[in-house]
Amino acid sequence: MSKDTILIIGSQGQIGLELTAELRTIYGNNHVIASDVKRPEQEDGPFEVLDVMDKENLNNIFKKHGVTQVYLLAALLSATAEKNPRFAWDLNMEGLFNVLDAAKEGVLKKVYWPSSIAVFGPSTPKQNTPQYTVMEPNTIYGISKQAGERYCEYYHQKYGVDVRSIRYPGLIGYKSAPGGGTTDYAVHIYHEALKHKQYECFLSSETELPMMYMPDALRATISLMEAPAEQVKIRSSYNVAGMSFTPAQIADEIKKHIPEFTISYAPDFRQAIANSWPQSINDSHARADWGWQPEYDLSSMSKDMIEHLK
Ligand code: SER
Repeated sequence: MSKDTILIIGSQGQIGLELTAELRTIYGNNHVIASDVKRPEQEDGPFEVLDVMDKENLNNIFKKHGVTQVYLLAALLSATAEKNPRFAWDLNMEGLFNVLDAAKEGVLKKVYWPSSIAVFGPSTPKQNTPQYTVMEPNTIYGISKQAGERYCEYYHQKYGVDVRSIRYPGLIGYKSAPGGGTTDYAVHIYHEALKHKQYECFLSSETELPMMYMPDALRATISLMEAPAEQVKIRSSYNVAGMSFTPAQIADEIKKHIPEFTISYAPDFRQAIANSWPQSINDSHARADWGWQPEYDLSSMSKDMIEHLK
């Protein structure tokens, strides 16, 4: 077991909730400090109230707990960011600067920062999107992730900061709720299918997007962080793929378990965001560099989601 002390920033979010639990299982509760802007009702390990934009408090927490690794998960996602672009930029970038600066000063040994398929834009090839390609994101979330990737690589090259990152596709899990993303429908649909046997989707039936089941996302994240530094050849962010599907395809899969289920479509502003993103991702670099391989497809994920949500 490593003697590192890990700080999760954004521990109450969709990824944070599950990653905190997983890391505590691996490293022990007291080696994993959870933090978020609000104190949760229940915590099974150390917790700090933290606004990542508050650099002084952040540095105090680093000192108080002897933090050596950070998972920086606090951010506004694509749909919420479009409603408050200036705040999204400030939160998504300030937080990253504060953490990267601490790593540059030698306080932190390793940093994890998530990027997204939102770094790609309408001019990117949509199928089997390569690691290196045209990137002209046109959402504020994508622009902040793109700038963040550039900063991560810069801090690595210039100051030797050990920063690691994954471009997450849409993430789907049963333990935590997504908040403010364009891919959130793929989580809500399971809840609504079980509760009301019907779902109104905010994307059109044929909108194909890259997605991943949470256990795969956690495994990808932790294996990237545990890989020997020399294997982590990309310091901007890695493409990783799980599966790709459309709302019509996920609905058909759900119908295999809940035959009465029906879906209707009422695309809103999120349709334009989805249209600007890739449909499938080429993750050959992640596979070659640190052995990435997804386990879940649409059918095994749906079976697992429905079993657990029941
Ligand atoms: N799931 C995210 C979103 O929809 C993509 O990173 O915003």
